[in-house]
Amino acid sequence: MEKIIVKDNIEGGKKAFELIKEGMRQETKVLGLATGSTPIALYKEMTESDLDFGHMTAINLDEYFGLSADNDQSYHYFMQEQLFSKKPFKETFIPDGLADEETEPARYDKIIDEHPIDIQILGIGTNGHIGFNEPGTSFDSTTRKVSLTESTIASNKRNFEKAEEVPRYAYSMGIKSILSAKEIILMVFGEEKAEAIKKTLEGPITTDVPGSVLQQHPNVVVIMDEAAAKLI
Ligand code: F6R
Repeated sequence: MEKIIVKDNIEGGKKAFELIKEGMRQETKVLGLATGSTPIALYKEMTESDLDFGHMTAINLDEYFGLSADNDQSYHYFMQEQLFSKKPFKETFIPDGLADEETEPARYDKIIDEHPIDIQILGIGTNGHIGFNEPGTSFDSTTRKVSLTESTIASNKRNFEKAEEVPRYAYSMGIKSILSAKEIILMVFGEEKAEAIKKTLEGPITTDVPGSVLQQHPNVVVIMDEAAAKLI
């Protein structure tokens, strides 16, 4: 695992962008993307660059269950706002929050199988989750409907007007699919992530800390700011 410590998320976004640019000079065609506050600086770098993503495929990690693509709290909406409306991709995939839970997981896994991910961008939850794979998730998991933990619901509350509006469920790509990416760039910013990233990088590999499975992946780059890295 390569560990890079940067001053802040802006510098972290620039670093991640450099890695993606480097990948695109070679064989990178499929990007696995995340939402939330962590990748915003990266997406800004991408939108302000002169790079063309028109030959690339993007596959997102997750979507809130029950939210439509045009709901401004959905991850569809977020990706459109932050990246896709400014930098068109050849094709983009995000789980459909309104789709049937009997069919959506298999549909999404088929998409992942047909578009092997070259570089997967990840953030991490304060509880160590990657994607919405909460503590206790099997490392063999594939796409499914997940129940969000109280700690995730509490963190996500900051983006909603009322606590009761925060979705309790989501569709998430599984840990097995995340691990299938050829390269993983994990970005971690802010002091509130310090405990989680210490356990992820230095603790035992355990389903209690889903991110710890990344220790088993052969090609992970971790970009942390100084606040997040303070216990490392
Ligand atoms: C988002 C995702 C989550 C977030 C994590 C950190 O698509 O899969 O794992 O990366 O919850 O969220 P932020 O970046 O908002 O701190």
